[in-house]
Amino acid sequence: MALTSVLVLGPTGGFGQFILNDLVRRKSEFKRIAAIVDTTREVSKTKAKLLDGFAAQGIELVRGSPLDAVVYEGFDVVIAILGNHAIKNQPEQIDVAISAGVRHWYPSEFGADLTVPGNWEERYYRDKALTRNHLKQRATEVEGFGYTYVVYGRFTEWAPVPHFGIYPKQGKANIVGSPDMLQSLTPVKDCASYLVSTLLIAPEGSERTFRFVGGNYPWSEIFQTLERVQGKKYDVLYKPVDEARATQKKAIQSGDVDLELACSHQVIQGTGRTLVPAPYDNEKFPHIVPASLETAFRSMFEDETMRTTLGFNKLFSEIF
Ligand SMILES: NC(=O)c1ccc[n+]([C@@H]2O[C@H](COP(=O)([O-])OP(=O)(O)OC[C@H]3O[C@@H](n4cnc5c(N)ncnc54)[C@H](OP(=O)(O)O)[C@@H]3O)[C@@H](O)[C@H]2O)c1
Repeated sequence: MALTSVLVLGPTGGFGQFILNDLVRRKSEFKRIAAIVDTTREVSKTKAKLLDGFAAQGIELVRGSPLDAVVYEGFDVVIAILGNHAIKNQPEQIDVAISAGVRHWYPSEFGADLTVPGNWEERYYRDKALTRNHLKQRATEVEGFGYTYVVYGRFTEWAPVPHFGIYPKQGKANIVGSPDMLQSLTPVKDCASYLVSTLLIAPEGSERTFRFVGGNYPWSEIFQTLERVQGKKYDVLYKPVDEARATQKKAIQSGDVDLELACSHQVIQGTGRTLVPAPYDNEKFPHIVPASLETAFRSMFEDETMRTTLGFNKLFSEIF
């Protein structure tokens, strides 16, 4: 059976908003679409406004703790779209959801393929890997329980950000890697459309993986496109992987987890491990045609609504 009673965990985050918007667009194809309002966390004005907006478009808001079984009752599937610091909470949440009758989980991954050699051991993926182990274990114990991995590489809009050493306002970049190294990029709106489409395909067996890629681009092409879109030259410095590893070690010593994660991510990128191995599943959904690199960058820089949804206003707003 298709997964048509859907509960979104982490609905107001960077990717969560795009998933909710796509679910709203396709509302008639789903029985029930809901978002958890995590009452154990502060609900800021911005978050409250977003949630009100979803409710006005017919999304059900389920208030409570993600560790409270009641919030999961009556749903086929949970899409967990949790940020880096919350990914490790999933095993406990999965257990509670199973006890409430949920039979499918989309773990918070939505990036590179963890099965690419070396990725599993990388710090950036530690909590994603432990969630995978837990899902696998629970599927052996609970009849009918399954999970879906959705792999994209990088969202196009997240490629030119300081996390990866790119500063669009300044037209500067310190890239770990080399100019010809390929990056798998897919525009975030298309990533959301693909994910929502997978819900409507009935799972067979307990585990499935979908791989979607908008294009594989070398850094040289990514910077040429940014230069064309922004109308400015980039000053790009390519750095060795060892340097990022050394900074990661310092971050561990100083207890700076965000820097540690960013360095680990830069090492992954610098060794070509964000490139998603073929085959891809794009053709299963021919109605989705991913936007080009240039179109995605233009929308990110020129469309204020897009920048706001991405949370990138501070990064990019003074560019034009
Ligand atoms: N491939 C890519 O390029 C790419 C880019 C971005 C993200 N991603 C992936 O997409 C997933 C979501 O990322 P995101 O950027 O959307 O995340 P995010 O905006 O940082 O956070 C998403 C949600 O997680 C919850 N959350 C955050 N920190 C928390 C904490 N400390 N404790 C409890 N809950 C917390 C919040 O939910 P509430 O709203 O309920 O408080 C938040 O809205 C991740 O797996 C990430 O790796 C991939």
